[in-house]
Amino acid sequence: MTERLLSQLAHVEILTPVPDESLRFYTDVLGLEVSSRNGQSVFLRGWGERFYHSLQLTEGPAPGLGHIAWRAQGPEQLRTAVERVEAAGVGEGWIDADVGQGATYRYRGPGGHLHELFWEVERYSAPSGMESPFPNRPQRYVPRGVAARNLDHVTVATANPGADAAWHRDTLGHRFMEYTVIPERPDWIVFAMTTVCERAHDYGLVWDPSPVRGRINHVAYWVDSREELLRAADIFLNQDIAIEFGPGKHGMGEQDYLYVREPSGLRIELNTGGYRNYEPDFETVRFEPQQGSNVFYKNAALPHSMFESFPPVDLAPETVEETKAATGLFA
Ligand SMILES: [Fe+2]
Repeated sequence: MTERLLSQLAHVEILTPVPDESLRFYTDVLGLEVSSRNGQSVFLRGWGERFYHSLQLTEGPAPGLGHIAWRAQGPEQLRTAVERVEAAGVGEGWIDADVGQGATYRYRGPGGHLHELFWEVERYSAPSGMESPFPNRPQRYVPRGVAARNLDHVTVATANPGADAAWHRDTLGHRFMEYTVIPERPDWIVFAMTTVCERAHDYGLVWDPSPVRGRINHVAYWVDSREELLRAADIFLNQDIAIEFGPGKHGMGEQDYLYVREPSGLRIELNTGGYRNYEPDFETVRFEPQQGSNVFYKNAALPHSMFESFPPVDLAPETVEETKAATGLFA
């Protein structure tokens, strides 16, 4: 049984060496809204999001991860979560309130990724003219570009996806939903998914064969329907943004997917569909690649470029071949 300490994935900070080009992608092509700019960062959100931001875009030397932020279930659960992280010996301490959030505790996960935990959150308030005609929406729907509605998940690259996922389950109450192994190495998890909400994952973990810690594989945003996902494919192509993989459907989580690269090279996914699950005692599902873990429609194969994470690391050709063989995931 899993105790619920965290309520949702709140936002992700990503780094870009081409901030102007990246910002244009997120606003004009993905359709996100700018909440504010502060220093080297721009704070963005989808039209359906109630919080101040779901994406912090920060200028940096290379595409990569800044941090991942989780909102607690309440003030007591935040204290419990911090105690757990401190007991695990990976706490980095409290920082004062930051843009969009109150007091925040930072920890570094087993894969070297920086995470934040907080409870108090600043909510978006629509300026005059942007109010929605519907009382349950935070703002008017603006059909600009893809018009992504909200953040869906973040997928990191980590040395041991199974152990990292289990750590987040045991320490912070994530539900460990699904994982992939290849038949020849049944003890080695190459991809894992955890969740703190009703979706099959808000946190993905893929094996990183590089020695670099704390890398990110992609950030995913949500659209409401497969029609919108297909329209997004058309929008990307007409903006000269190459599609890396999809549109298609994953077996794990059953989500429809579409992957592109933003101008920094960082991978962005769009999702829709998928199952919802509310079982606190959900039994973790094991997949083998040939069962359709990545590709529900088994006539498609994952291109090896999908294994590239950020910041980019030049892997020796033998390491690339090793990853292909060790994961069994690629064409
Ligand atoms: Fe994903």
